Amino acid sequence: MYRSVFSLEGEENISFREGVGTRCGRELGRASRSNTEAALRRRHYFCTRRRRGAEEAALFFRVSASPRESENADLWSAADLAESIGGGRLHVVGSVCGVEGSAIPNATVDFWQADHEGNYEAQLGADEPRLRAILSTDAAGKFDFWTVMPLGYTIPMDGPVGDLIGRTAISNYRPAHIHFIVSAPGFGTLVTHLFPEGADYLDDDVVFGVRPQLVVPFKAVAASHHEVRYDFVLTASD
Ligand SMILES: [Fe+2]
Repeated sequence: MYRSVFSLEGEENISFREGVGTRCGRELGRASRSNTEAALRRRHYFCTRRRRGAEEAALFFRVSASPRESENADLWSAADLAESIGGGRLHVVGSVCGVEGSAIPNATVDFWQADHEGNYEAQLGADEPRLRAILSTDAAGKFDFWTVMPLGYTIPMDGPVGDLIGRTAISNYRPAHIHFIVSAPGFGTLVTHLFPEGADYLDDDVVFGVRPQLVVPFKAVAASHHEVRYDFVLTASD
């Protein structure tokens, strides 16, 4: 599933890594940071592997901090993120359970997404948290929230990663998706996405993050909105 595009060697490798470090530092508001390794180790970059019996995990790059990492803890109770944002409304309905199917109450569901034009909060310079929140599952392990249908987007092509991708034949786009981090005490944390069936670029995701199990129907259930249902399965901690 994972493919090696090509290798950068020697000075070219060092130059690329320094370029990424400088860019990450600048976008994180640390113009003086040029230490590549420190930038790449930041929590904004994750790579996960599937845990036996659990849902598919997927690599992601976090564009903006979750409420947990910001001062906007009030979003813990947010359930309708679609207000004042254009695009079609989407109802996300799900649950969190163990591998044997038992519900996990009070599990944490941390999610974020791009809007109907493929833009993240950080790209719009929004003053308020936008299309991201943290919810807790209820006593039956269930959760739901209202948001907007996400759109796919291109990765930034005006930096070192764009230069690298531009030298390949692969797409520079990501298909539409919603990011999730699902966690609960005593269970391994799941970092993953959900992708709408039929989205553009599902077969050509620039970060190779698509897994068949994560491509699900975002059904039109009424003229007013779509709905996606998904049950996240967590494995017990090692
Ligand atoms: Fe994303």
